[in-house]
Amino acid sequence: MKPYQSIFIIILCNWMAGAGTPVAASVPPYLNDSLPMEERIDDALARMTLEEKIALIHAHSKFSSPGVPRLGIPEIWAADGPQGVREELMWDSWDTAGHTNDSCTAYPALMSLAATWNRDLAYRYGRSIGEEFRYRGKDIALTPGINIYRHPMCGRNFEYMGEDPLLAGILASEAVKGIQSNGVAACVKHFALNNQETDRHQVNVIVSDRALHEIYLPAFKKAVIEGGAWAVMGAYNRYKGQFACHNEYLNKILKEDWQFDGVFISDWGGTEDTEQAVRNGLDMEFGTYTDGLSSGEANAYDHYYLARPYLQAIKEGRFTTRELDDKARRVLRLCFRTNMNRQRPFGSLNSPQHAADAQAIQEEGIVLLKNEGALLPLEPAQYGKILVVGENADFMLTKWGGSSNVKARYEMMPIDAIRNRVGSRATVEYRKGYTSDWPPQPAVQDSLREEALAAARQADLIIFIGGHNKYPNHDTESYDRTGSGAPFRQDEVLEELVRLRRPIVLVTMGANQFDMPWSDRIPAMLHAWYGGSEGGTALADVLFGRVNPSGKLPVTFYRQLTDCGAIAEGEYPGDGQNVRYNEDIFVGYRYVEKEHIAPAFPFGHGLSYTTFAYGRPQLSQTVMEHTDTLLVTVPVSNTGKKAGKEIVQLYLSDVQSTLPRPMKELKGFVKLSLEPGETQEATFSITAEELSFYDERTGCWTAEPGKFVIHIGASSADIRHTASFRLKE
Ligand code: BGC
Repeated sequence: MKPYQSIFIIILCNWMAGAGTPVAASVPPYLNDSLPMEERIDDALARMTLEEKIALIHAHSKFSSPGVPRLGIPEIWAADGPQGVREELMWDSWDTAGHTNDSCTAYPALMSLAATWNRDLAYRYGRSIGEEFRYRGKDIALTPGINIYRHPMCGRNFEYMGEDPLLAGILASEAVKGIQSNGVAACVKHFALNNQETDRHQVNVIVSDRALHEIYLPAFKKAVIEGGAWAVMGAYNRYKGQFACHNEYLNKILKEDWQFDGVFISDWGGTEDTEQAVRNGLDMEFGTYTDGLSSGEANAYDHYYLARPYLQAIKEGRFTTRELDDKARRVLRLCFRTNMNRQRPFGSLNSPQHAADAQAIQEEGIVLLKNEGALLPLEPAQYGKILVVGENADFMLTKWGGSSNVKARYEMMPIDAIRNRVGSRATVEYRKGYTSDWPPQPAVQDSLREEALAAARQADLIIFIGGHNKYPNHDTESYDRTGSGAPFRQDEVLEELVRLRRPIVLVTMGANQFDMPWSDRIPAMLHAWYGGSEGGTALADVLFGRVNPSGKLPVTFYRQLTDCGAIAEGEYPGDGQNVRYNEDIFVGYRYVEKEHIAPAFPFGHGLSYTTFAYGRPQLSQTVMEHTDTLLVTVPVSNTGKKAGKEIVQLYLSDVQSTLPRPMKELKGFVKLSLEPGETQEATFSITAEELSFYDERTGCWTAEPGKFVIHIGASSADIRHTASFRLKE
């Protein structure tokens, strides 16, 4: 054959194999993407040997599994999540591979995304980060994390989406859809009940069925059913005595009740037993042993629970291939959705658009907690000398924190962004004030504090930028916090700064607040979570009014730790073996409202540089049948002078119930963007689902007839109007 002839044939074959084009009869059905996916899966499965099926369902490196090379089914690659695509690691270990082309865009932490209460931004986060996963050759994105914020001690709260199941579930579903629009599977984690890091590898969670279904599962359910997640990761902890990565109860809920058709993946090292992994729905095993090299042959991938031990058991007749076929089928489905999908886009990395996406999320995630005397936004020309104090003004917060550690291409520091924004309109000085250096050195800490105080005496305005970082025992995987006080002795600096009686703005970072007995004396406070690559820019834009803040708290900020139900009535961290969630369904605002405790800042709270007026809600009906959809419309007006966004919240209370119910539960939210003087309507729909509770007596969701009250508010504690209706018998 002449060279031009072979080139012609290659081009012809490629063309014929493209989507929507007729495929030659010789192309096997599993490669023919004009056939239905399930047919292709059947065909591929029928061609596979027992050994190939076994190989498909467990790792052959730290983050990949081999696919089926003989059939041209490629390796499957996963990477963390959630703040950015993790750097490349060594084949067999957690060590960095030392690549120089794997830095990424750092997105704001998921808590910040949750604080936006913005569905479009959640989708945008998913689409944007998904493009980076895709460009980096990943098929599974190990994000979003959606475990409920049960208490402020959990080290991984920053990777999750707050205390309310509806808010977390809606935003997670959008993020999943965005990620998967790239032909990359979102892997929702950690299913289920990972609410603390202390004892995470063994602790057994004892929780009522009702709290499980009403609080801890709904976000997963939404991400699976509405988001259509293609993968779910198990948690390390136990539930009903069984490890969550192969738990018969959780597996039944996921695969039977919710009809999840994707891949259930172990957390890295979360598999503990072959028999349970086989029977209880574990589809892919990752990270069981550190490696197959330094720890020797005994720890190689062949020894994974779903590897040789499983193969052996099938050969000895202890299992049929029924479970194996189901697992392989699910992994193949994942392949056809991702790395066998020739239509998926190419993705992109570190694009200007991605930086803009990260910045847009953070701008809406920052929460204006208080603003006495309208100190914010700042007009630099009013102040001759501005002093910035605090380590987090100049400290990388995209680093550390465990598996979500990000090698960001860059991270804009708040101090640099503030200097850029102020320009020549005022002088800006910076003093660190405190340090998180470990081990603490009292002499260093004292001198940093004194330097800051000396500079503050000369300043006209102080901006303190502190809070947590991602060091062990702060916001990080594997460790919980050890106390609720201000970290790194920064409260001592703050106390003294407050005494100087200068205008002072406090900016805190982190997933969790800390005790602030002196906060009443601080006029302006912002909470900024972790802002990612453009965190500094977004913060400066809020401080100086380029951006009107519109974030609201996705968690309750307690006055003291004992105001949290999990701490006051539940158990934390348990006795090393078990932890009892005695607070039951009363998590976050559901607890403080029941106990009439005033939090420092309530769930749903966040201020703006403008003001909003809420008109009376209109109900489409005041009597509702079980099959009806009740519509609630609320006119909201911007009554101030600046354009702004308002998150209108709908809470519901069940007045006549056979079971105790929370005083209020979030059942809807709408984020409106309003010009000065503009009015728009927020519309909510209520069905029997929103009225239901999980009845343990029947194992069903039940909406009981009787009176319900709708509360429309700007936060859970700032209710502007109420209205009631009745559900008919
Ligand atoms: C974490 C997961 C993570 C995995 C892979 C585990 O330790 O719990 O969230 O995705 O490691 O890095």
